[in-house]
Amino acid sequence: MKASSRFDNLPPYEFSEPLAAIASRLGMSPDQITKLDLNENSFGVSPIALQSLANLPLPHLYSDPDCSKLRVALADFTNIPAANLLIGNGADDLIDILMTTMLDPGDRVLICPPCFSMYAFCARLRHGRVVEVPLRTDFRFDLPAIRSAIEFEHPKVLFLTSPNNPDGGLIPPDDLDEMLSWPVLVALDEAYIEFSENSGRFGCQASRISQVMQRDNLVVLRTFSKWAGLAGLRIGFGAFPDWLMPVLWKARLPYNINVAAEAAALASLKDLDILAERVACIQAERKRVVLELSRLPNINPFPSQTNFLLCRVAHRSAAEIQKKLAEQGILIRYFGVPPLTDCIRITIGRREDNNRLLKALEKEL
Ligand SMILES: Cc1ncc(COP(=O)(O)O)c(C=O)c1O
Repeated sequence: MKASSRFDNLPPYEFSEPLAAIASRLGMSPDQITKLDLNENSFGVSPIALQSLANLPLPHLYSDPDCSKLRVALADFTNIPAANLLIGNGADDLIDILMTTMLDPGDRVLICPPCFSMYAFCARLRHGRVVEVPLRTDFRFDLPAIRSAIEFEHPKVLFLTSPNNPDGGLIPPDDLDEMLSWPVLVALDEAYIEFSENSGRFGCQASRISQVMQRDNLVVLRTFSKWAGLAGLRIGFGAFPDWLMPVLWKARLPYNINVAAEAAALASLKDLDILAERVACIQAERKRVVLELSRLPNINPFPSQTNFLLCRVAHRSAAEIQKKLAEQGILIRYFGVPPLTDCIRITIGRREDNNRLLKALEKEL
């Protein structure tokens, strides 16, 4: 017996070690670990969402296959018709469904590394070929190079992330407008848009989601993982143009959203005031951590509109810093690939999380 040879050259997705395993290796309890490596929300689930999880009415029954209640609530939240919204088992699921929908074997997907690793992973998983146009050294998108890759490689999808992971910067509006004018389907991942500054409640003025209804080449992906603290429940949503919707409905797995995730997402949308307070707190902490880091030697954070900071480290090994902090139960992210070999990425947590991180960093720098 032999599995499909398509997987022979597909590297497995690399996960970080589970929290419980790390805690037990360090002889700590999981709540003694300061987890600032995966851009989760240290405030956790909102009170009403927590209540909804404790009181789930019918977990023994299959979920609503259309997620109609949630799509209607999201239509209100985003001003996008429910008919143009699809819910995913995390934004990851929507990335995968989009690849399944768009790609025939050998079709190309254009990405701009360093970027979220799921784009390349799902493209390859769904028989696509990945074309890379790296970001410039200042982490801006290289528009001329992207334009010519579109002309010569004819990608089916261009993946953009704004604000971007790992650097945290928003794509300048003019750059984004220009890329949207090109003949390619743009999948714009706005996983962190709610943390962008001066852009209205939950980033509503910075988000391009409303433009999905005005053009047929834009998809916008969002998630409840970051601003609403539902990463472990796996729930995200996307806005898609009319022509894509019927195919997306065919391509996704039935019941891809579990009842707990749907209930918690619905409840989060009823708990917006407290979630907005938490976002504001993360924004304020981001400013404070940048200020504190500016007082330390050998570390420079890039400007960020997200719940994390990418920091370049000088005269010290970034890998070593990550390792030393991990030994104390403080988890941060090290990528180990160019152009990020001298960088660490730290999630902005609650004040106490950030203070613990800053104190430990001070010793290592
Ligand atoms: C840019 C970006 N998009 C999507 C995701 C995944 O979102 P979800 O948890 O909804 O699958 C992440 C997670 O870190 C991310 O950084």
